[in-house]
Amino acid sequence: MSKTSLARAALPVEPTRPETTAFAADVVAGLTATPKRLPPKYFYDSVGSELFERITTLPEYYPTRCELGILRANAAEIAKVIAAGAALIEFGSGASTKTRILMGAAKLAAYVPVDISGEFLAQQVDALRREYPGIAMLPVVADFVKPFELPPTVQMMPRVGFFPGSTIGNLEPHEAGAFLREAGRILGRGATFIVGVDLVKDQRVLQKAYNDAQGVTAQFNRNLLVRINRELGADFDVKCFEHHAFYNRERSRIEMHLASLKRQRVRVCGECVDFRAGETIHTENSYKYSIPSFGALARGAGWAPVSVWTDPDQCFSVHALTKKDDGPVRAAE
Ligand code: SAH
Ligand code: AVI
Repeated sequence: MSKTSLARAALPVEPTRPETTAFAADVVAGLTATPKRLPPKYFYDSVGSELFERITTLPEYYPTRCELGILRANAAEIAKVIAAGAALIEFGSGASTKTRILMGAAKLAAYVPVDISGEFLAQQVDALRREYPGIAMLPVVADFVKPFELPPTVQMMPRVGFFPGSTIGNLEPHEAGAFLREAGRILGRGATFIVGVDLVKDQRVLQKAYNDAQGVTAQFNRNLLVRINRELGADFDVKCFEHHAFYNRERSRIEMHLASLKRQRVRVCGECVDFRAGETIHTENSYKYSIPSFGALARGAGWAPVSVWTDPDQCFSVHALTKKDDGPVRAAE
């Protein structure tokens, strides 16, 4: 028996659920790649979702504050792009805080929050049902970069997509283009899409936003290792990994890494993963755009920019896009 299969026999947690199997496969692929990396979507278990909510209240983390300000200041105008009786489909809905502004300003018939963090999503929807009894709440637990279908009841309603938070910045630009195109397919003919996008700015402001004084972002980053230990039976010594976040100006992105504080070996799903002192796991990119560069990305993915709103300091932007002409309706549709 090889060393690897011996270790596999001793695996403490057998991945059985399809999500766990996919998680295990992505973690092993990422940690055996050079350089080591992990997909940011795995930050969001229930603890990660709660930690993200704490990040949004930090003084250094300007994006949430700025976007809430833009949505509040322009709610009536933004509501004009949302037809009465529409279904609002939100990609990566989290706590749906920003959505409540649109729920107050527009006349929605249904809300479809789509999120990968299933337990957290269920809790948020319980609260939303109590607060907005007149809006049908139709949650979908899904990975939004993979194809998924909308609940059948919204097929007959006008559909508006909502993708706030600059979560689009966590995708590589080519993935962001593919996502926008697929979102166009899911939302369908005549759809509108409202997308929140963080803007390029002074590096010091950016770096502070991802290196907060209270260390909440560091805890959010390290929680990924805590999750891998708990769900996949790995033996990361979490305190031996340090949070690193910095702005990569050439690529217009904040990079987050977990840096090994010493030479060490970690066992994950039966694989031995060796770290040099200082070696990092790249856990997240957060791309920053200009208004024209995001407009070009959207146009290339089949969307026409119709309006953009920003805050007075041009920190953040909210874009309204409409789906470009899909061509003539075919008899089979
Ligand atoms: N829209 C909220 C939350 C943003 S945090 C806001 O603007 O404040 C990013 C959210 O996207 C989290 O709730 C996370 O669980 C979800 N998410 C991240 N990657 C995802 C993916 N691939 N598929 C579905 N949801 C995802
Ligand atoms: C969800 N996403 C847009 C956040 C961001 O700013 O990239 C996630 C985050 N990572 C560290 N802090 C917040």
